[in-house]
Amino acid sequence: MPPAHHASSSRPLFLLTLILVAALWYLSGSNPAAKAQAHPPEHKRHQPALVNQANTPPPPREPQPSTRRAFHQRIVALGDVHGDLPAAMSILRRAGLVDLKGHWTGQDAILVQTGDIVDRGPDTIALYRFFQGLRPQAEKAGGALVSLMGNHEMMNYLGDWRYVTKEDIASFGGERNRREALLTGWIGQEWRTNYSITARVPYLVHHFPHDLAAPVLPSTPRGSSDRRFLGDPTFPSSVASGDGKNPFLRAAASFVHGGITPEYLSSLPSSPSFTPIATMNRIGHDILESLLHHPGGVPLSLPRTAPDEQREFWSERGPMWNRDWALEDENEICDRVERACDMLNVRRLVMGHTPQFEGILSRCDGKVLLIDTGISRAYGGAHSSLSLTYTLTPASALPLADALSFSLVALDDPTPDATLAGPDLARTWVETELVEALYTKGRDSETLVRSERVVVVPE
Ligand SMILES: *[C@@H]1O[C@H](CO)[C@@H](O)[C@H](O)[C@H]1NC(C)=O
Repeated sequence: MPPAHHASSSRPLFLLTLILVAALWYLSGSNPAAKAQAHPPEHKRHQPALVNQANTPPPPREPQPSTRRAFHQRIVALGDVHGDLPAAMSILRRAGLVDLKGHWTGQDAILVQTGDIVDRGPDTIALYRFFQGLRPQAEKAGGALVSLMGNHEMMNYLGDWRYVTKEDIASFGGERNRREALLTGWIGQEWRTNYSITARVPYLVHHFPHDLAAPVLPSTPRGSSDRRFLGDPTFPSSVASGDGKNPFLRAAASFVHGGITPEYLSSLPSSPSFTPIATMNRIGHDILESLLHHPGGVPLSLPRTAPDEQREFWSERGPMWNRDWALEDENEICDRVERACDMLNVRRLVMGHTPQFEGILSRCDGKVLLIDTGISRAYGGAHSSLSLTYTLTPASALPLADALSFSLVALDDPTPDATLAGPDLARTWVETELVEALYTKGRDSETLVRSERVVVVPE
């Protein structure tokens, strides 16, 4: 059932009141909007020509209360790179996340790699070293690298080397060394500590604006796996899962290698303190840990003795192998996709695994984003990344024209999460979300979704 929309008669009324209040406030000259025009914040969509005209230095910025600041977040997702380091680097450069040397330049952006770094190409060592080096750089800059296991990581861990190239084995100095590196050695250690199965990444990660009637996020934890995104039960549940009431807590997306279906989510053992995200990560890590102590070495596939939840997890219904969102007819899946989004409390589902050689594929109005574009030269597909850009601006900081155009847009697209409770500008935020496919080799980026809405925080 879709959430009940607000009585449509209240919307024009709200708009009218918003216009009136905004106009009065604007004309009074004492509002931040007027100041914002004189010193447009960097997020402004239409930069007026009057700045940077003369050589005179810009007048000093007036300190604004933190509640009036715009908030930005960028999330970039990179799909299956399969042994091709140069391709991965040029894609991340195109996305503004690394420089020519591969050093992090993404500031506080969040990069999610959805697995399948290994197999089909030779650069296994170089790629894992590269991401291992990038992670602390991103963290130091206030950003994050979220690394997910693909089915190929897990296959290699299990000893299933069907897709391993000769050059790959040679680069480790032989099978024995490679086996050791992947299990007890540096790559196996990285997988167990810094890789996860799935992540739920919110837009409001760092600086939660004060008056959003939401819990303040714990300060960024440093070091290994980024618990903020993994459904860690020791985090406030409203942050980890979204509490349903706060319009801002519906996270940007969940990321996984294969796909997460509502049927699989329903089959998960439920527990009040574990979110589905946390449970999937727990099961994946149980597999990694149990194989470490498996008698007689790697079993090549999941051992017969593995518990049911692990067998279901590693089946074609589970998050690492599922292809429903890529292969099934769009008319058939969108209701189920919607259900998965609701259960995870996310706006979109992002995944790799099933190649779309022409480019990133958006299905069900951008609720499904398929980002495996056959990046590796083993495939020769499109060199892509997915970019999610989010801006949250207090309505009071917007020039009048912008505030009005935004509210008109929002009225066509009723916000399912918020209550338009009254014309209180101080509680009104304008939210924009831009979902783009970025390409290298001179191909233009493509806008997949652009949404704008006005959100009034309930009192
Ligand atoms: C995991 O990531 C952290 C933070 O970047 C790093 O310090 C640590 O060495 C990594 N762990 C392994 C086993 O590589």
